[in-house]
Amino acid sequence: MDLSRVLLAIFITLCVLQSSSLAIKSKKSYIVYLGGLDQQYEASQIQDSHFEFLGSILGSKERVDEAMIYSYNKQFNGFAALLDDEDAAKIAAHPDVVTVIQNKGRKLHTTRSWDFLKLEKNGVIGASSLWKKARFGENIIIANLDTGVWPESKSFSSNGYGPIPYKWKGGCENETLVPCNNKLIGAKYYNKGGECDDADIVKGFETAIHDGVDVISVSLGGQPADYMDDGLAIASFHAVKKGITVVFSAGNDGPTPGTVTNVSPWVITVGASTIDREFQSLVDLASGLTLKGLSMSKPLPHSGFYPLINAANAKAENATMMNAMLCAQGALDPKKVQGKILVCLRGGNGRVDKGTQAALAGAAGMILCNDKASADEIIADPHVLPATHITYADGLHLYAYLNSTNEPLGYLTHPEAAINIKPAPFMAGFSSRGPNSITPEILKPDITAPGVNIIAAFSEDAKPVLPYNIESGTSMSCPHVAGVVGLLKSLHPDWSPSAIKSAIMTTAYIKDNRGNPMMDETKNVASPFSRGAGHIDPNRAMNPGLVYDLTVNDYLDFLCTRGYNKTMIQKFSDQPYECPENDNILDFNYPSITVHKLNGTVTVTRRLTNVGPPGIYTVAVKSPAGISVNVKPNILAFGKKGEVQKFELKMKADGTSVIKDHVFGELIWSNGKHYHVKSPIVVSVV
Ligand SMILES: *[C@@H]1O[C@H](CO)[C@@H](O)[C@H](O)[C@H]1NC(C)=O
Ligand SMILES: *[C@@H]1O[C@H](CO)[C@@H](O)[C@H](O)[C@H]1NC(C)=O
Ligand SMILES: *[C@@H]1O[C@H](CO)[C@@H](O)[C@H](O)[C@H]1NC(C)=O
Ligand SMILES: *[C@@H]1O[C@H](CO)[C@@H](O)[C@H](O)[C@H]1NC(C)=O
Ligand SMILES: *[C@@H]1O[C@H](CO)[C@@H](O)[C@H](O)[C@H]1NC(C)=O
Repeated sequence: MDLSRVLLAIFITLCVLQSSSLAIKSKKSYIVYLGGLDQQYEASQIQDSHFEFLGSILGSKERVDEAMIYSYNKQFNGFAALLDDEDAAKIAAHPDVVTVIQNKGRKLHTTRSWDFLKLEKNGVIGASSLWKKARFGENIIIANLDTGVWPESKSFSSNGYGPIPYKWKGGCENETLVPCNNKLIGAKYYNKGGECDDADIVKGFETAIHDGVDVISVSLGGQPADYMDDGLAIASFHAVKKGITVVFSAGNDGPTPGTVTNVSPWVITVGASTIDREFQSLVDLASGLTLKGLSMSKPLPHSGFYPLINAANAKAENATMMNAMLCAQGALDPKKVQGKILVCLRGGNGRVDKGTQAALAGAAGMILCNDKASADEIIADPHVLPATHITYADGLHLYAYLNSTNEPLGYLTHPEAAINIKPAPFMAGFSSRGPNSITPEILKPDITAPGVNIIAAFSEDAKPVLPYNIESGTSMSCPHVAGVVGLLKSLHPDWSPSAIKSAIMTTAYIKDNRGNPMMDETKNVASPFSRGAGHIDPNRAMNPGLVYDLTVNDYLDFLCTRGYNKTMIQKFSDQPYECPENDNILDFNYPSITVHKLNGTVTVTRRLTNVGPPGIYTVAVKSPAGISVNVKPNILAFGKKGEVQKFELKMKADGTSVIKDHVFGELIWSNGKHYHVKSPIVVSVV
């Protein structure tokens, strides 16, 4: 039964976004340390004793199940639990308890990204937060099309949730497999097509649309394909037609250009960037050198230096040197590894597997060093033993130290969450990049959001068993945007999916927390091909002033510009549709502006719809290098809400600059006060 849960090809989980913040705020996670292990008991008996002990404090099994986070029963004796102050004090006073540590760095529900997105500050949600203004997304239903859900996860607890919205027509297909509650209000799976087959996903879309969702979040995708050959493009068009916003991950195939996937203009395509948090565990060497590492592992059992060993020197007789260095299965000699911190090289087998092999060989800990290809990219993994992950450059220092002495010694500091890390955000190297390989005239991705080292509910079928894990990918950034869309939709039920997208894009920011232009993984300025319009700013998105709106007919006109005939367009429309004459993609009212293969002069038109108070807006342009941009009119006056004004941009290559690739600029309509409606400009020339 458990296996089927994880392997379901398509699993739609539907959640009502609402506040459970009360329950979260009053409880904190604590580590209750009970001392060393009594060898006469097995791990399962020790785990049982933790549940029994916590039960004696909390009074009921339900409350224990709700509170227990971890049982530590292999390395030392203790557990982690979500407790209020009073219960924590009671536990601390118990004679069996050595100490109770408030687990500041690893709060269970608050994952920092909401702080980083300014929806809350130190767990407090301010009155001006979109979260509060949108009543925590009350009655908004979000569908996730994904490979599975772990319904037992506390992430899906319906504590503090009101009744299921009236409009909801769905439910849990099999209550034995997935028990529904007032948060996880439906779960259905489709796996007849194969693994992640379009047929299943399209069925998932159909069900979600039918069941009455407001937002669809899809963290999957394959090779970019033409709209007509892309089941996801077609299915998402039908969702958008019904007023449902569809949010897609951009893919994890960066930094290679042209890798962005899910590029339909009717969906929101999300890239991934960092937040200002790191889980640090430092390597202290006896030489006095300290190297920065990232880790989510448990700490070493005692303080003071441990002997270090290069995995190359711990080679099993029958293994190759390369496999030993990589800490591959069967390549280590336990006699040499026992009780030491083993130094392994990245590459070949998985990062967590290396830790498993180190633990099997009896290592006390592990340092994972990046190979040259992985360079600076380090990840806080939850290894099965105390471990940390360091960069390639630091790895060279470490190997040099190992070479320099016969008795290398080192220590791994306890992993701790460090916040306010600078710079943040910057683009993740893996985040897929533009240009858009299907329609180069539409910039993709649209936006970036937190997608690196995000705490997320995890399948407890995986090893090591963890209720939460740290994950990175556009699969992590996509649901952040879906959540914000849900809030915007709750606040502005009359906004179309494209108005919501426009609001998110035109209010995005492109500076990091040092005030410098946001960077990519190479420490160069991130271009619109990686960050789209910029980083999502939820509180500003609720009040964009003006939006670039699009109707279903505009999307059909877009398809007309692609040269599709009536029969093909029929697949997207319910009725016959006549393509307009002189249809031009440069007039497609997208919130970003891309001119592909500019030859001489072009005119781009756009129209803005007022969603704010009446106001006079003036234009400012940061022209792409070598391109002159002339906007007419350069002042727009908006009266009441809903009023539409048009403008045009004349773009001309100045003829003196040599433009090799793409050049980037920005268009900003501003009322001089609160509203700055920004669009990236991307130009390539013939
Ligand atoms: C529900 O799932 C359980 C566990 O996989 C299975 O035994 C049962 O047959 C399913 N029920 C239905 C109605 O499909
Ligand atoms: C080496 O021999 C050991 C013991 O027979 C075995 O477990 C291991 O898998 C072998 N390793 C390789 C790389 O063949
Ligand atoms: C460490 O010594 C090995 C073997 O002599 C050598 O191949 C390697 O380059 C040395 N590493 C460093 C970083 O000095
Ligand atoms: C429309 O285009 C498709 C694909 O190119 C083609 O198979 C079909 O015959 C065309 N239909 C008409 C009416 O031209
Ligand atoms: C650019 O425009 C000129 C003038 O219309 C035309 O002759 C030329 O073929 C165009 N170049 C390209 C590469 O399309």
